[in-house]
Amino acid sequence: MSKKIGIIGAGGMVHYHVAGFRSAGAEVVAIADPNMAAAEKTAEREGIAHTFNSADALLKAVPELSAVSIIVPNKFHAPLALQALKAGKHVFCEKPPALNAREGKAMADAAAKGKRTLMFNFNNRARPESYAIREYIAKGEIGCINSAQAKWVRRAGIPGFGGWFTTKALSGGGPVIDLLHMLDLALYFMDYPEPEWVLAQTFDTFITDKTFKGPWGIPDVQKGGTTDVESAAHGFVRFKTGQVVSLQMSWAEMVAREEVSVTFQGTKAGGLVRRLFERDGLDDTANDTCELYTHDHGRPSNRCIVVPADPSMGRIRSAANFVAVMEGREEPLNTPMQAVSLMKIIDALYASAQTGKPVKC
Ligand SMILES: NC(=O)c1ccc[n+]([C@@H]2O[C@H](COP(=O)([O-])OP(=O)(O)OC[C@H]3O[C@@H](n4cnc5c(N)ncnc54)[C@H](O)[C@@H]3O)[C@@H](O)[C@H]2O)c1
Repeated sequence: MSKKIGIIGAGGMVHYHVAGFRSAGAEVVAIADPNMAAAEKTAEREGIAHTFNSADALLKAVPELSAVSIIVPNKFHAPLALQALKAGKHVFCEKPPALNAREGKAMADAAAKGKRTLMFNFNNRARPESYAIREYIAKGEIGCINSAQAKWVRRAGIPGFGGWFTTKALSGGGPVIDLLHMLDLALYFMDYPEPEWVLAQTFDTFITDKTFKGPWGIPDVQKGGTTDVESAAHGFVRFKTGQVVSLQMSWAEMVAREEVSVTFQGTKAGGLVRRLFERDGLDDTANDTCELYTHDHGRPSNRCIVVPADPSMGRIRSAANFVAVMEGREEPLNTPMQAVSLMKIIDALYASAQTGKPVKC
């Protein structure tokens, strides 16, 4: 029998979650959002039969749900996931996993205790390029990845001023926590080594400059509203294995164009997964690259890995993986403990930026 899934939050990713769940044979039966107009509009667009004004109402009215998918501002990820896990549901939650590692650990513990699947939408792991690189890694063609550079830089990409994205209490932070995907992807390629210490600096240049707003996101709050997050961060992570990652994340930096990339140096091959945008923030203008660099017979050799284009950036495949995991047909693309480890690094990045010192993880 097909799995029934409910959506909590009519956020921008609903379309991808629904497409992914349905492509894997699941049914999307209901959606809840305190903003009923948003719930109803999304339900109509996506063909979802039932709408509710809260997660409580949804969980009560549709007890036959196997799982929920959480697409709400970051502050509500942990409480809603804990509520759903307690109700016996499997959970697919948007990134970031939570506001911090403490919340992430509580979610991981609840999933383990209830023997439920808890996965996060690290959709970049589900891109064709990432599947390809993981295959080269698994076949031993890349060797141990000594170092990686993780980068998501936007030239003008502040996702609305004064709303939840720019309010640290609601979002957990700016681009460090919002654009965590490439750090996660680098760690995924490196088999998630245990972090040892972190050094970072954040900047708030341009964070109130409206000319640095992205082409999407949420509407600006016209009166009041809070903007207390960073606009950019640069950092360095050392792992207990001796591996290292350097990172750059920004919503507003004067770079040539938006770039989303992981570059890595393995003991047998280097490589690159990169998305460049013709127009910042618009996935349908993306240009993807996947390359490996080796040294064959004393000569440099460059390999261009050709994979099918995926403008959705793995978002549909990632949601499909969640259903396949619930049904025991696929291995999960990510685990709760990896999410906790990632959140520990993010906590340490912010702590280092605040203290001006390296921070132990
Ligand atoms: N994976 C990706 O590529 C990607 C891209 C964009 C956003 N996201 C993530 O998706 C999440 C939502 O972002 P967004 O841009 O769609 O935000 P948004 O503000 O546009 O939408 C969030 C929706 O959640 C609803 N909501 C708030 N509290 C709720 C609650 N307690 N119960 C139910 N609904 C509630 C709001 O009314 C709103 O309709 C964030 O965590 C964000 O990081 C992921």
